Amino acid sequence: MHIPSLKEAKVRSKKLVNISEYILNQNLKELGLGKKYYIRTYGCQMNEHDSENIKALLESMSFKETDEMEKADIVLLNTCAIRENAHNKVFGFLGRVKHLKDENPNLITCICGCMVQEESVALEIMNKYKWVDIVFGTHNIHELPDILNRLIKKQERQIEVYSIEGDIVEKNPYKRDSQYKAWVNIMYGCDKFCTYCIVPYTRGKQRSRKKEYILNEIKELMKDGYKEVTLLGQNVNAYGKDLYDDYDMSNLLEDTALTGIERVRFVTSHPWDFNDKMISIIKKYPNIMPYIHLPLQSGSDRILKLMGRRYTKEEYLKLFNKLKEALPYSSITTDIIVGFPGETEKDFNDTLDVVNTCKFDSAFTFIFSPREGTPASKMEDNVTKEEKEARLETLNQLVNKYSKQANMNYLNKVVPVLIEGYSDKDDNKLMGYTDTMKLVNVKGDESSIGKIVNVKITDVKTWSMDGEII
Ligand code: 5AD
Ligand code: SF4
Repeated sequence: MHIPSLKEAKVRSKKLVNISEYILNQNLKELGLGKKYYIRTYGCQMNEHDSENIKALLESMSFKETDEMEKADIVLLNTCAIRENAHNKVFGFLGRVKHLKDENPNLITCICGCMVQEESVALEIMNKYKWVDIVFGTHNIHELPDILNRLIKKQERQIEVYSIEGDIVEKNPYKRDSQYKAWVNIMYGCDKFCTYCIVPYTRGKQRSRKKEYILNEIKELMKDGYKEVTLLGQNVNAYGKDLYDDYDMSNLLEDTALTGIERVRFVTSHPWDFNDKMISIIKKYPNIMPYIHLPLQSGSDRILKLMGRRYTKEEYLKLFNKLKEALPYSSITTDIIVGFPGETEKDFNDTLDVVNTCKFDSAFTFIFSPREGTPASKMEDNVTKEEKEARLETLNQLVNKYSKQANMNYLNKVVPVLIEGYSDKDDNKLMGYTDTMKLVNVKGDESSIGKIVNVKITDVKTWSMDGEII
């Protein structure tokens, strides 16, 4: 049994990170024969991608996926810790899982992901949710086959959450959600320690993957017909800093573009590490998509300092303007937190000011949520909940106005769209994303799925557009 410790998770050891390659224990190949699994994923792209890994591990043991939880022999919740409401959703859903477990004691129940990396959550599940059979963390996903095997063989509850990251595991299998676009991890963890953020505790220290492994994975994806890769990390612009002296994110982006894959994306950028070389590489290669997610978090210098973001409003605007100048066609989106401890009306107005200046293509907006163990959770907070909600509402209205305005520029224009499949909302329509990451719905048939087609935009809304394939 391993329970994570917050104190240990904070530590950044200088220890060299080893690389190991994943190999399935051949004795476990039929462990799940005739059995089904159901997985529910909360949170960010990193978690979505981890679930693709978990699915492949289960399928390598002959489990089959079901999207009906009631029919499953094993139920897994891959959880998120970023804000309190992510927690609440998981604990809410656990009630439903408990109900199924009461009806069928043979059901295997499993919780994994960022939430269980929190010491208090791991302890709570251990002590109060005794019917949960397996708990594993973000650092040992590759151990799932062995953990499952031990549970089944020994009939003993398995709680295996490590505080500290281990090796980088290569050659992970993935059952990818899409046949056309793929996530590719380029690094794990984060060392930025923004004061509000739990990620450096739940995902460990920054560890970049070796470029050879990344580029080989992309070449394999191309052989399998993939059109688009998204290079994934908490802080991708810091790629390589922990591994190379002379190879950084701009080099990796360039090498990725040179593989010839049709579309290259990357998330998430931190303004601090966004250098001029990066901008010129994005400009140079047409297969690097003109889309940048550049979290602002706040427009107030005072709050940015308290957040530990390491840039000022002025510096953010300078970078934003540089990007827009070099890449006028690009879309830029952002993340903003309102109601950080002690945020005054003036601080909030500074945020609105940046939004009015940058007119983001879209923004993800959040109310500050104190995360246990982070410095910001201990800061004095005298802003009322009502005030925070009112600020969020004001911000959202402004953000939505600019999203619609940005989309209006697309009306009657022809843009390239990678058609991914049928629209969730309307079976008669196909959906896909433009190079600039705008969601587009179009009329069409199966023959366009998986292709990058030219679409004339006929109508725009705040969050999507309609168009016709031409
Ligand atoms: N409270 C509210 N929002 C947060 N984010 C990260 N931590 C918190 C928190 N404690 C937001 C940031 C980040 C995005 C992924 O989630 O805006 O960029
Ligand atoms: Fe969290 Fe900051 Fe790291 Fe992003 S850069 S994951 S906000 S600590």
